[in-house]
Amino acid sequence: MTTNITKAWWKESVIYQIYPRSFKDSNGDGVGDIPGIIEKLDYLKELGIDIIWLCPFYPSPNDDNGYDISDYYGVMQEFGTMEDVELLFKEAEKRGIKIIIDLVVNHSSDEHNWFVESRKSKDNPYRDYYIWHPPVNGGPPNDWVSFFTGSAWEFDEVTGEYYLHLFTKKQPDLNWENDQMRQEIYKMMRFWLDKGVAGFRMDVIPLISKEPGFPPFPKDFDGYFPQVYASGPRVHEFLKEMNREVLSKYDVMTVGEGIGVTPEEVNDYVGESSKELNMVFHFGHMFLDRKPDDMLAWRDWSLEEFKDVFETWEKALGNEGWGSIFLGNHDFPRIVSRFGNDKEYRLESAKMLGTLLFTLKGTPYIYQGDEIGMTNVAFPSMEDYNDVQTLNAYRAFLENGGTEVEFLKKAHPFSRDNARTPVQWDASEQAGFTNGQPWLKVNPNFKEINVETALRDKNSILHYYKKLVKLRKQHEVLVYGETEIIDKPNPEIYAYTRTLENRQMLVVLSFSDTETDFVLPGHLATYANSSKVIMCNYPVLPHAAQNTLTLRPYEARVYMLK
Ligand code: GLC
Ligand code: CA
Repeated sequence: MTTNITKAWWKESVIYQIYPRSFKDSNGDGVGDIPGIIEKLDYLKELGIDIIWLCPFYPSPNDDNGYDISDYYGVMQEFGTMEDVELLFKEAEKRGIKIIIDLVVNHSSDEHNWFVESRKSKDNPYRDYYIWHPPVNGGPPNDWVSFFTGSAWEFDEVTGEYYLHLFTKKQPDLNWENDQMRQEIYKMMRFWLDKGVAGFRMDVIPLISKEPGFPPFPKDFDGYFPQVYASGPRVHEFLKEMNREVLSKYDVMTVGEGIGVTPEEVNDYVGESSKELNMVFHFGHMFLDRKPDDMLAWRDWSLEEFKDVFETWEKALGNEGWGSIFLGNHDFPRIVSRFGNDKEYRLESAKMLGTLLFTLKGTPYIYQGDEIGMTNVAFPSMEDYNDVQTLNAYRAFLENGGTEVEFLKKAHPFSRDNARTPVQWDASEQAGFTNGQPWLKVNPNFKEINVETALRDKNSILHYYKKLVKLRKQHEVLVYGETEIIDKPNPEIYAYTRTLENRQMLVVLSFSDTETDFVLPGHLATYANSSKVIMCNYPVLPHAAQNTLTLRPYEARVYMLK
């Protein structure tokens, strides 16, 4: 099998996501900061990563922890100064690490100067930078809802009109129809590119073009409302313009948060000939366990559906586009708690999930702390929660007669704060994250789960991740090879081959907490003897060639077949 895929550095890279608020506090104020990141660059270098995706570090009232930006050209005071950021760029570069930054331009903060001006009067020069609408029948213009509960329209008394906010009311949506506004965004992008950033992760980028006339939600809609907002009529025109005017002038990578994007249309965004973005994150697997209309309600899902997501997207991308492989980020629960077993098989299942991350086709993204198997947290009181999505949903839940105890049952598995507790660096007080009081409580399991302990233990998840990073770098087949699933309906085993020209790997992953037999098809069984195992998450390797593999709980094996 040969491949026609164009090679690129960002396809061969491993990306590590940093949520600065929770990464490392250097000055004891309880908030992670830029100098804290600099302190840990050697740790990241050792892990083997190539690129850091830095979540927003700009000035922000922190209604949504930095995703509400009040100045695109600055640095949040709590995080440090522009000099700190420049030093971070320099120190990263010294270590051969590139940095991509978050571009949050579907909306700004309501405290951004543009919005402060915009709301002043209907004829203010910045009025049209945002989306204003007169009341309809004395109420909001339509039935659109915010991702964070309630109407997406907020009434502003000064001019007697509503403005649109798909997120919180402190995150007014920017009006991409306005040429001047778009030019301002491009100018800002050039500012950061000229400082040396290697690209952007683009926040909710498919939402920037709004449906003209703001039609009401379609009745037959099954509740997955992101699709109503995504991929509006001018989105590709805007992204092509951005590419032409800005991105194409630099050797950079981009990854869009592909909210609402379907496999059928993905190459309109990332196909090479589209000249828009390089990758998007797709969310099929991230919403499998949720009711479509309730981010905090559980739905049963099967491993087959999970496999189907990855298979569908890889096929849809083909040789034209490129995928991104992630299992969690700052918006979702911890991967080991969600897809693995964070109790008796935490070690095994976290390693198994890591194996998935590094052996599927696409650029792998590690979210901070997953490399040591950090888990969800179950705070005892709603007072311990910070995330605006969780808190807004809680308020609505109480209004509908629910209680705190009932709501905690939803928050425990699903709150975004699961991923935002401070990174656990060592077993000292506050997990070595801060000398002060952390802005969000540390997960009480830090004495057992922390970087220092993991560095000392040869059998740790961290060391296994390092091996995985190396493995992917050594074997091109893991980057560019085609994937073929074996026994797709199997409810417990996710197995696939990766093939590139005359090289072939076999990956077998158990999602079961009991021992499970897996029968290999004949043509693979002849190769799959234990001498071909190049990676396994159990210290004692399996023996003997056989066509029935007996997999231990959450066992992961990678065979080099040829
Ligand atoms: C993205 C971010 C999320 C944020 C939202 C609004 O989904 O990842 O954290 O709340 O956009 O900016
Ligand atoms: Ca700090």
